[in-house]
Amino acid sequence: MKLKKTIVLLSGDGIGPEVTRAAASVLQECAREFHHQFTMVEMPIGGAAIDKTGSPLPNETLDACRKADAIFLGAVGGPKWDSLPVGKRPETGLLGLRKGLGLYVNLRPVKLIEPLRSISPLRPERLGELDIEIVRELAGGMYFGERGNTKDGGVERAFDTESYSTPEIERIATFAFTRAEARSRKVCSVDKANVLASSQLWRRTVSAVGAVYPNVRLDHMYVDNAAMQLTLRPTQFDVILSTNMFGDILSDAAAALVGSIGLIPSASFGSSAPLFEPIHGSAPTLAGKDAANPIGSILSATMMLRDAFGLSLEADWVEQSVARVLGAGYRTTDLDEPGGKTVSTSMFLEILNQEMQRTFEHAEKYGWGV
Ligand code: NAD
Ligand code: IPM
Ligand code: MN
Repeated sequence: MKLKKTIVLLSGDGIGPEVTRAAASVLQECAREFHHQFTMVEMPIGGAAIDKTGSPLPNETLDACRKADAIFLGAVGGPKWDSLPVGKRPETGLLGLRKGLGLYVNLRPVKLIEPLRSISPLRPERLGELDIEIVRELAGGMYFGERGNTKDGGVERAFDTESYSTPEIERIATFAFTRAEARSRKVCSVDKANVLASSQLWRRTVSAVGAVYPNVRLDHMYVDNAAMQLTLRPTQFDVILSTNMFGDILSDAAAALVGSIGLIPSASFGSSAPLFEPIHGSAPTLAGKDAANPIGSILSATMMLRDAFGLSLEADWVEQSVARVLGAGYRTTDLDEPGGKTVSTSMFLEILNQEMQRTFEHAEKYGWGV
């Protein structure tokens, strides 16, 4: 089946444009070989959009995303815009985009790529066959609660509010349980119910949703313990369900276990077109140096192929090629290890492209999966 899709590219700031180019080139390679038609529309977001239009999320960008079949985002933010107040920063554009598109699920798979086992900070027996999915709530919590600044008797105060409603918790919990049903049937819900009222409602609501999935085992864990358990014995987890804030923090910690934050993709779902983005930021010190790891971005593109377009053969083709390039010892700087062949971003992409050609030709001759 040949598909026609419109993809909005939001490359953003820092290494955002470099990793977005990588994802776009892989998507175009899939389109070329499998005769799909992907129309790419580039729109500004973040600091680049502030510089161009004064707003981190211009209306035209949000409109284009609403009309798209899928959206790809690189990264936003950087020192140039760091002195702007919350609300006017590049990051606000990303939050506005997620909210504006009704994206309340952020799925972050953290899976060991076997050739990278030796760069994990964990000993091999602790790392095991690490394969977890973090289901992060994306449209509520402290990110979107009431916030502000006050001054009382000359004393400054600032506040942010964590708040969740039952329906907001129910819909993300339902996603996590459905996901777990297709995996090892285990959900660990992470909260701070020993302190926070919002976490008490979270825990109660997740338990109620869990009752509808009797074949999925549900555990609850406090976030401080979860951070510790992730490092100590990460293989106990399958699906981790958490709030916007805790999910953000735990996913960066989990990324380190498999070698680098530059490896981890994500997919966001909700009421409109899904959005795909690596979980890393704009890595300002790497920007323009042709040194960023493009894998998180490429794997976000394969999530788009599989989860938005149903193209699992194409996604498998790219993912297996990435694993083979790593298996051959090629590494970006963040994955560097003694004996590794460290290459630039563009060289890595070139080698990946050759590997994709080689396996495509092989599969055309002998069949896929051979
Ligand atoms: P970061 O993820 O940009 O960088 C953290 C560390 O990881 C740095 O050492 C960086 O060099 C490294 N790193 C990140 N991505 C990498 C890659 N692809 N290849 C190799 N190394 C990589 O996080 P930060 O430094 O906390 O934030 C920098 C800026 O990015 C800030 O403005 C922040 O707000 C923004 N940010 C944006 C997003 C996003 O757009 N989704 C996510 C996180 C942070
Ligand atoms: C992420 C980032 C964003 C978040 C920032 C840049 C708003 O850290 O996507 O993980 O906190 O969600
Ligand atoms: Mn983050």
